[in-house]
Amino acid sequence: MNVSVLANTLIGSEIIKIGNEVNELKSKGANIANLTIGDFDPSIFPVPSALKEEIVKAYHQNHTNYPPADGILALRETIVDVLKDRYDLDYKATEILVSGGSRPLIYATYLALIDPGDKVVYPAPSWNNNHYCHLSSANGVAVETTAETNFMPTAALLKPHIKGATLLALCSPLNPTGTMFTTAQLEEICDMVIEENKTRAEGEKPLYIMYDQIYSLLTFGKEHINPVSLRPELKDYTIYIDGISKCLAATGVRVGWGFGPAQVIAKMKALLTHIGAWAPKAEQVAVAHYFGDKNLVDQFLTSFKEQVQLSLDALYNGFQEMKADGLAVDAIVPMGAIYLTLKIDYLGKTTPSGDLIKDSTDLNSYLINEAQAALVPFSCFGTDEHTPWFRASVGGCSLEGITEMIPRIKSALSKLK
Ligand SMILES: Cc1ncc(COP(=O)(O)O)c(C=O)c1O
Repeated sequence: MNVSVLANTLIGSEIIKIGNEVNELKSKGANIANLTIGDFDPSIFPVPSALKEEIVKAYHQNHTNYPPADGILALRETIVDVLKDRYDLDYKATEILVSGGSRPLIYATYLALIDPGDKVVYPAPSWNNNHYCHLSSANGVAVETTAETNFMPTAALLKPHIKGATLLALCSPLNPTGTMFTTAQLEEICDMVIEENKTRAEGEKPLYIMYDQIYSLLTFGKEHINPVSLRPELKDYTIYIDGISKCLAATGVRVGWGFGPAQVIAKMKALLTHIGAWAPKAEQVAVAHYFGDKNLVDQFLTSFKEQVQLSLDALYNGFQEMKADGLAVDAIVPMGAIYLTLKIDYLGKTTPSGDLIKDSTDLNSYLINEAQAALVPFSCFGTDEHTPWFRASVGGCSLEGITEMIPRIKSALSKLK
């Protein structure tokens, strides 16, 4: 096709391919437990009703013109207060940038920091860093993690790759695993970045951290930690990604924010101005009011997290029971986000119709067809496709749907020889 090399070489979303497979079966009447997309079914997980009312009110008040390029001041001031109150972080309104969900901020972070060929280091599995590397012509280095560290990267794993790198992309709670950094793990990574930056010459770009904490308010009994709270000197080098998409089940409302060093944020703002990736003004006005009311937000979070955790626990317990019954499966205790890490160790087996399950994609298709259960193999997040690990997202499936799915998975796996 006569389009740019960039457009021609875009990597299609593997998750959307699985979604299409699910939709095709659904259109034939199959009742699939869809644990694929990192989204919420609004009939199961609606946005807070008070937020919805604020959005409607803001439209009635005619907040329908362009918002300021960095976001309305009232929202940035609310964020300043939230950062202080919830994370003990001191940021000024000028160090915050609002956009239409958090994706544009990730893209802007890459564009603001990366020159073609610059090295970006990120863990695999992780979400979409390969795509942002492609879009920014970065030299992406995916560092594979293992179950031994709950699939979180460690300083020891990252160290061989950070010499000369421009960006280290981190996320906790992590999509796709639902696992989180321990304090010791993140401290060691922070110290490694500080040490690396001491070796950089005057005028050379430092090693920056992009810290995606979009799931930070969705944790289950574990404390969320972040680089600047642990090591304040990292403030000049850390760009945070955050927003309401996940913590308020508001993926379609499109309000995200980033914060970091004022000069980097100013460049990200300039880049996003040309893209026009602002959050709609009425939504900004609504979130400024709603998110500033800590009691309301906490009330919502308490019941929302309880509901998410019930689903994650049901899935986790179901897999532990299958394991106890002798099936080659496992699961990692849910810590945060809306995801569970599942091990389904059946690669190399043969289906009743004689097909070899050669990789995790084959096993996923088998489970979709045979157990009406749709997961996402970790290979969609950058790991080798011969590893038997999968992401289950509970946002699009009812608790009942999850409970009913477990015996179907058990029966399907028992048929593999
Ligand atoms: C780790 C992570 N960061 C960012 C995003 C994007 O969020 P948004 O919908 O606000 O663009 C996602 C969405 O799945 C995510 O998992």
